[in-house]
Amino acid sequence: MDFRTPEVDRLAAEVIPDEFFELSAQDAREVFFADTRMLDGKQLAHNRFRTNPRSLVDHLAEQLELSGTEALLDLGCGNGFVLEHLRPHLAGGSIVGLDIAPGVLRAAEARLKGVATPCRWVEGSADDLSCFADDSFDRVIATYMMHYVPDIDRCLAEVRRVLRPDGKFVLTTDRPDSMVEMYDLHFAILREMRAPERLFKATPKARISILNGHEYVDSHFAGVELRTWQDQLRFADADAFLAFYSAHNYCCAASHPGDLGEDFFRELRERAQTRVQAVIAREGYFALTKFTGSFICS
Ligand SMILES: C[S@@+](CC[C@H](N)C(=O)[O-])C[C@H]1O[C@@H](n2cnc3c(N)ncnc32)[C@H](O)[C@@H]1O
Repeated sequence: MDFRTPEVDRLAAEVIPDEFFELSAQDAREVFFADTRMLDGKQLAHNRFRTNPRSLVDHLAEQLELSGTEALLDLGCGNGFVLEHLRPHLAGGSIVGLDIAPGVLRAAEARLKGVATPCRWVEGSADDLSCFADDSFDRVIATYMMHYVPDIDRCLAEVRRVLRPDGKFVLTTDRPDSMVEMYDLHFAILREMRAPERLFKATPKARISILNGHEYVDSHFAGVELRTWQDQLRFADADAFLAFYSAHNYCCAASHPGDLGEDFFRELRERAQTRVQAVIAREGYFALTKFTGSFICS
């Protein structure tokens, strides 16, 4: 499905800055993924408001080509949302979920509790897989997480080491201008509020995106192919959009939200609500165009 129109391309060229936010591993662990609220909110909205009948997890399952007996490692498994959906494809296999943040890792464990596929949960950073022997896994996945990893090259070398020679690594990330409509709204409000210049930055996903990902993966894997997946979230209710936006606006606005204070974010949300309500009244819904891709590495 192709949601990416020339108008969206034009908007992206105008709106998305070259400079992007960087988030530290400590922030990932202690702020953004200290609990599951941010992930739960995003996943719920992605599922409820999507337009593509083939979800991201359907796309992932397809790329993984599972026979049902594989040993799979999920780097940055978060709250186990992806693993819960892949698990039926691994009825005779096994799962290891690794994450740097104990809060979400415990939620993943609870989510898969009682399933017959053996599961193991490991707290750690994806650039140190020393607890796994060489050739341990048939599949490794990393979904929307590689931009957080402090040493990406070391992580990819480690993935190659723990992956069996005939295994497959599926690295999934976005274009930096994915959901450009939200950034357009966000930056317009920041300009209205005369916000500090340092807030006009792209998402941290620009660090390793589907635009520059080949530069990282090609030196570690003999075969690399990029397969894209698109969606469009359509919100016909401003409150539902606000909940989704609030799960992002710390990321878009600052790596240390505490610097700005709650009043700043309250005003940001109020202004967003007014603008989105006007779009919904005019167009019927507010659309966010998603542009994701998976590097299939073997
Ligand atoms: C946006 S979430 C994605 C979660 C899950 N893969 C999904 O798609 O639902 C990013 C995850 O990466 C984890 N993470 C961040 N830095 C990490 C690191 N260095 N090593 C392992 N996990 C990390 C976070 O704690 C968080 O759970």
